[in-house]
Amino acid sequence: MEPKTLISEADIRRRVSELAAQISRDYAGKENVVLLAVLKGAFIFLADLARQLPVPHRVEFMALSSYGKGSASSGQVRVEMDVRDSIEGSHVIVIEDIIDTGRTLRYLIDLLKTRHPASVATCSLVRKQDRHEVEVEIDYLGFDIPDVFVVGYGLDYAEQYRTLPYIGIVEPSGS
Ligand code: PRP
Repeated sequence: MEPKTLISEADIRRRVSELAAQISRDYAGKENVVLLAVLKGAFIFLADLARQLPVPHRVEFMALSSYGKGSASSGQVRVEMDVRDSIEGSHVIVIEDIIDTGRTLRYLIDLLKTRHPASVATCSLVRKQDRHEVEVEIDYLGFDIPDVFVVGYGLDYAEQYRTLPYIGIVEPSGS
């Protein structure tokens, strides 16, 4: 089953370049810039974005898991893998592939702020417009999308489709 295109490869490329330009302007002259990607989904976005950023930066990774995903009652988040080097005093830009309820990002921002970074900003390629359950500000957003099941460009369905070069829509079985 071939996912139906929601955002084409060309549109992603164009938008990633725009975001990189915007970040470059905002962070020009800043030291200790850290791009912190949330695994697994953000790995492709990070790779494309980072290679277009002239601002000196380092990359870090975290893996988070959430329980009761999709249920309003739970949504607890746990750190599965943490950064390797301290972010204290750094200008951190969290890189996400998708914001759904906002719970993962809210948790992560609150956690990072306890570690005394110089600043924390957020960047996500897509956001599901009508799904947010908690308030979380996205400083750099690629696209707002409707509440459909999306895959590709890092996003998976049962670990499939992550390396699809575009963002497509699939109908999960049972839905
Ligand atoms: C996705 C995405 C975010 C989170 C967003 O990760 O990368 O981290 O869900 O959802 P929320 O806004 O409702 O918290 P996922 O759990 O699918 O893990 P993966 O990136 O490893 O596929």
